[in-house]
Amino acid sequence: MTTIATAMIIGASSQLSKELARQLAAQNVKLLLFVQDPDTLAEFAHSLPVPAVVLPLAISEPQKLNEQISQAWRSENGAHLVIVNTGLNGYDASLPWQLEENIIEVNVKGFAAICNCVFKLMVQQGYGQLAAINSIAGQRGGPSIAYHASKAFAENYFQGLSMHAQRLKVPITISDIQLGLLDKAAMQQNRFLLSPLEKVAKQILTALKQGKRRVYVTRRWRIVAWINRILPEFIYNTRHWKTKSKKN
Ligand SMILES: NC(=O)c1ccc[n+]([C@@H]2O[C@H](COP(=O)([O-])OP(=O)(O)OC[C@H]3O[C@@H](n4cnc5c(N)ncnc54)[C@H](OP(=O)(O)O)[C@@H]3O)[C@@H](O)[C@H]2O)c1
Repeated sequence: MTTIATAMIIGASSQLSKELARQLAAQNVKLLLFVQDPDTLAEFAHSLPVPAVVLPLAISEPQKLNEQISQAWRSENGAHLVIVNTGLNGYDASLPWQLEENIIEVNVKGFAAICNCVFKLMVQQGYGQLAAINSIAGQRGGPSIAYHASKAFAENYFQGLSMHAQRLKVPITISDIQLGLLDKAAMQQNRFLLSPLEKVAKQILTALKQGKRRVYVTRRWRIVAWINRILPEFIYNTRHWKTKSKKN
């Protein structure tokens, strides 16, 4: 099959990443899939109807990470679209530092290292679209403390990159995908709030095609995000978050 564009998915092992890969492949987009352990994704990549290369991702070693992405970029003559889907979440009311540190390592340090590298490659290339699957959790502090804070970092980092692209006058689109639905479901085990992955991935790719700077997926989460923002602190702080174990 002749491909029409190249996309990188960084953090390609999740169900959402795979669905994005399937839908991009169906649109004849060649794929470079970055994962911690390439062997785990080989079979999936082989099942796609387009060429799909699986590559390693050393997220906690910024120098190595930079080389991995840059080398792939050179050998594939760049990419039109890069979707960053790496992320780590976790909740433990006793706040063990190891968990906080791991989340910061992946969602802050790793995220910044990936985006810094890709942005500069796109500047050299002269164009591109850099997208990240972020979360409405970044709008305010929350029960998974480092996670919420890390998503605020990601959102802010993207704002800065978008501003920088405009200053440089390079047509690089920075797209912030504010995912809400799965977050809520993960914390509350409320299947009522879940949307099918196909729908989530479709909305993401439609927004990216439209060159959106920021989008809520699924759409109804825009309202939840708005309410979240305006809730006074004394109400916001008293919401009860139920962990899986408490509910079962
Ligand atoms: N699922 C939700 O509830 C939800 C809701 C809102 C926003 N989001 C955000 O959306 C994004 C994707 O979510 P998802 O549900 O697809 O997440 P996921 O299933 O947890 O997958 C996240 C990706 O990050 C990668 N990753 C995690 N730790 C890594 C590490 N140390 N080194 C390299 N890669 C690492 C995973 O790869 P490995 O499998 O190789 O570890 C995986 O590909 C994340 O940024 C998440 O915060 C998720």
